Amino acid sequence: METQHPMTYGRITGWGGYVPPNVVTNRDLPEWLDTSDEWIVQRTGIRERRIAGPEETTATMCLAAARRALAQADLDPQELDLILVATSTPDYHTPPVSSLVQSRLGASRAAAFTLVNGCTGWVYGLCTAYQFIHTGIYRKVLVVGAELLSRFVDWQDRSMCVLFGDAAGAVVVEATPEPCGLQGFVLGSDGDLSDLIIMPGCGSAHPCSPEVLARRDQYVRMNGREVFKFATRIIGPICHQAAARAGLELDAIDWIIPHQANLRIIQAAARQMGLPLERFVVNIDRYANTSAATIPLAFAEALDRGQAHPTQRFLFVTFGAGITWGAAVVQPWPTSGAASQEAVAQADGRVPTG
Ligand code: UT7
Repeated sequence: METQHPMTYGRITGWGGYVPPNVVTNRDLPEWLDTSDEWIVQRTGIRERRIAGPEETTATMCLAAARRALAQADLDPQELDLILVATSTPDYHTPPVSSLVQSRLGASRAAAFTLVNGCTGWVYGLCTAYQFIHTGIYRKVLVVGAELLSRFVDWQDRSMCVLFGDAAGAVVVEATPEPCGLQGFVLGSDGDLSDLIIMPGCGSAHPCSPEVLARRDQYVRMNGREVFKFATRIIGPICHQAAARAGLELDAIDWIIPHQANLRIIQAAARQMGLPLERFVVNIDRYANTSAATIPLAFAEALDRGQAHPTQRFLFVTFGAGITWGAAVVQPWPTSGAASQEAVAQADGRVPTG
């Protein structure tokens, strides 16, 4: 297979995560749900999640993560060329949440758009950002993944509401002549499976009406069992494919950062790929499934606590509504030269994302 070589490279100069302070453990869940800590832990690996406060929205969470990433990159928002926000739970259908983020950051030079692609949105967004960087069109891009799912799941439906949490994660990608960044990727979609994860009501197909609300069709629904089977089938092959496009074997990848939907899916992926679970960054126990935010949040945490270094190779792998999927091999910083030494020193002194 041909490897993918860009014209200009992109260094991830800043990263940041945000989770709301309000922790809801499995035991704190409402009694009417008829669920248990044991069921949730055994079936999913989730122990607790963060739920946004009444004053928080998707845009405010985006801003918190973006400000951390920009501060670390030492970048004035005015320098940004593009802001890309991946979310399926925006503040409004319109205006796009990316425009709210642009305005509140004061990033007046930046183009901005929102990418609605379920859990795969941030990986799709990162690959999109790199295309603008690789062609030399833009030099400084902010890519945010944020989700406020607690307002879009049905709190009467135990099969859904226990699975999700609220969070945001962001990175800044800047053009550089030094080889690093996105080394190979795979994106895909099978719209024949679009019914597996669906919010049936309050779109153009079934506009909001008393009947739609009575059916509770404004909330997201999922055929969990089928999504589970699909995910365990696709993750291994797309990881191999993305690595091959980067001209690498999976052994050359330091960290796999998978979408955090279910610990059992991650364990199955590790088995299939013949890699130890220790090479996977896992935080589903603390944050549950935060959809488009899981990967940038886990990435920021792994770097912030010094578990991973920005000169290492990461493989981001995801699947979600659509059904869509994506895998991307990324080396945030170059491996040689002063830049890499600076990166390692910075990573060593980093404080945890909170
Ligand atoms: O990020 C987007 C992509 N989403 C995913 O990747 C999710 C993938 N799917 C999954 O992670 C799993 O399928 C789930 C965690 C959603 C469900 O686990 P499962 O092992 O597939 O359970 P199930 O849906 O087959 O349900 C088994 C039983 C059912 O009872 P019966 O019909 O066997 O009597 C459910 O009613 O578990 C019951 N159940 C619950 N019991 C206690 C479902 N939810 C709960 C609950 N507490 N919260």
